[in-house]
Amino acid sequence: MHHADVMMNEANNGRFYCVYRVSLWAHAVNCLDRHVHTCPERVALIWERDEPGSEFKVTYRQLLEMTCRLGNLLRRHGVKRGDCVTIYMPSCPLAVASMLACARIGAAHNVVFAGFSAEALAERIRDAQSSTVITVNQGVRGGKLTELKKTVDTAVQSCPTVQQVFVAMRTENPVAMTAKDVAMEEVREQKENQTLIKILMPTAEDRKLYFNKRKQLSLFGCGFITMLWLLHVISDNAQEMQKEDVVCEPAAMDSEDVLFLLYTSGSTGKPKGLVHTQAGYLLYAALTHRYVFSYHDGDVFGCVADIGWITGHSYSVYGPLANGGTSVLFESTPIYPDPGRYWEMVQRLKINQFYGAPTAIRLLLKYGNQWVHKYDRSTLKTLGSVGEPINTEAWEWYHTVVGDGRCPVVDTWWQTETGGICITPRPSNPDAEIVPGMAMRPFFGIKPALMDTEGEVLTSNHTSGALCIAQPWPGMARTIHNNHQRFIETYCQPYPGYFFTGDGAYRSKEGYYQITGRLDDVINVSGHRIGTAEIEDVVNQCSQVAESAVIGYSHNIKGEGVYAFVVLKKGMDVEEMDLSRQLNDLVSKKIAKYACPDCIQVNSRLPKTRSGKIMRRVLRKVVEQDLNGLGDLSTLDDPAAVQEIIEVIVNII
Ligand code: WT7
Repeated sequence: MHHADVMMNEANNGRFYCVYRVSLWAHAVNCLDRHVHTCPERVALIWERDEPGSEFKVTYRQLLEMTCRLGNLLRRHGVKRGDCVTIYMPSCPLAVASMLACARIGAAHNVVFAGFSAEALAERIRDAQSSTVITVNQGVRGGKLTELKKTVDTAVQSCPTVQQVFVAMRTENPVAMTAKDVAMEEVREQKENQTLIKILMPTAEDRKLYFNKRKQLSLFGCGFITMLWLLHVISDNAQEMQKEDVVCEPAAMDSEDVLFLLYTSGSTGKPKGLVHTQAGYLLYAALTHRYVFSYHDGDVFGCVADIGWITGHSYSVYGPLANGGTSVLFESTPIYPDPGRYWEMVQRLKINQFYGAPTAIRLLLKYGNQWVHKYDRSTLKTLGSVGEPINTEAWEWYHTVVGDGRCPVVDTWWQTETGGICITPRPSNPDAEIVPGMAMRPFFGIKPALMDTEGEVLTSNHTSGALCIAQPWPGMARTIHNNHQRFIETYCQPYPGYFFTGDGAYRSKEGYYQITGRLDDVINVSGHRIGTAEIEDVVNQCSQVAESAVIGYSHNIKGEGVYAFVVLKKGMDVEEMDLSRQLNDLVSKKIAKYACPDCIQVNSRLPKTRSGKIMRRVLRKVVEQDLNGLGDLSTLDDPAAVQEIIEVIVNII
């Protein structure tokens, strides 16, 4: 029986579906070898590097070679079937090859978004019990360098399981290597035919940037750094990947074996490592990629999400590659070097499907239409939106300005847990209407259900409720790594027999779905999901803070902003600026920059129930200035606490 069915039944009384378990080739074969047989020179990946105009194309043959070399390298260093490899890299071909190399040898990958701090990375490595990490010396984003290898160094200090760290070079700047580190490639230039090296080699453009930066340093500094670099080049002869054979025997996997873990935030406690498996996940990613976006052979698919999120996994890597497609890997930001970046890229790479987040659309809308009109977007056929609700203004702008009114906009609702898109318009059905701002209809095999507060299924239309899914589907996560109980409690027990998504939804008169937002204490900041409890944990670690309550509030670019209510320890008196700086430092150090509070409000106490639970619902209403909507306050321990908060907010406004 299918594992997913077991889970749905564990919390339920009976219905189950019988699915045959089969052995299949590792996904590197499904995503690469199959296509290398028929079209080896087709472009698999277009690496849209941070520096505009320096894109790099990788064919299926090249990607297979890279993947095999990496697979052999991992095997030679003792990585076995069933192990877990953590990947801490920006979107680049080597990161994709690393994911596929893990898949090829039967190891699970655990990609951690390269914007996460050392502590957040360490927490994920420890929970996944990873013995191997793959990273790059530095990241490059928006023209700025990030010290990824140094972050890994700090993280592994508190990760006793880590035995080896593979390091590739994204920039020419040398990094200090430790005893655990294995240099994947040399920094210096290689012969023409060695494509692998070229892929990571900076282009002439890059070098210009690099040397311009150097010019700003003193003469001594310049000489010193160049000398260090030369020393590194001369002394370090390891060409680890080049030593490896380009043939790597793929593992045969069971359909229910683990393919990867991906950590995401929940409403309580630490992030959870959702487990996706082989057959169902790939099938679902490939099918949704083809039918939701009307992807056809020869199209160039541009998903601009980072590979550190599920969107990157399903729609930059697995979906497009399983379909033999050409996928763009976007390393930059929407406004680097200017707000025309996306559309200049669409013109240059002739992108046919563009898939991005509402937060970026809202930001670009503010810069005006001229940045869009400047570029030829006639290749575009489908525009996709993902990660958070898209407001009508942003939807209309995306449709009329970016798509010239001729490209369907697909507002795709799904989650890390669902593996692929679940509710979405499907323009491959030409008769289907699309209503702005609505995720519309369930994809094949998805049976949504809305629940009322009593836990009963709402059968009528024009109604709102908790969004559940009534039967398993191929792409669903099977468990939480090392914590199946938490999986059952979070997803299966709230509405027995149904998968609970954590979101609320409205079903219109016509039966179309609109997602109304999270029902739990998870918020969505610029399309990034974060638990308010995770932020509170960190805020409470500040030496001046006694307790805190964090909520999300409506933010016109980010979708939701982070609002922190803080109670200081007795006798503490700290300048607001000072507190804000301290909390920002702490949150970016412990989690990531995007989780930093946008507003901090100091109060003498927080509204609590008599049993001591903070009433976040009340805080949300106060921040929304919906004082009539405060609801039932009878359980409140001390009504004056709410009054105080209202007064402070009124003063701020
Ligand atoms: C949460 C999942 C889906 C991949 C990227 C985010 C929200 C996602 C939509 C949408 C309204 C959406 C939900 C969901 N969300 N897509 N089209 N409309 N809300 O994956 O980090 O797992 O977050 O993002 O609240 O539960 P994730």
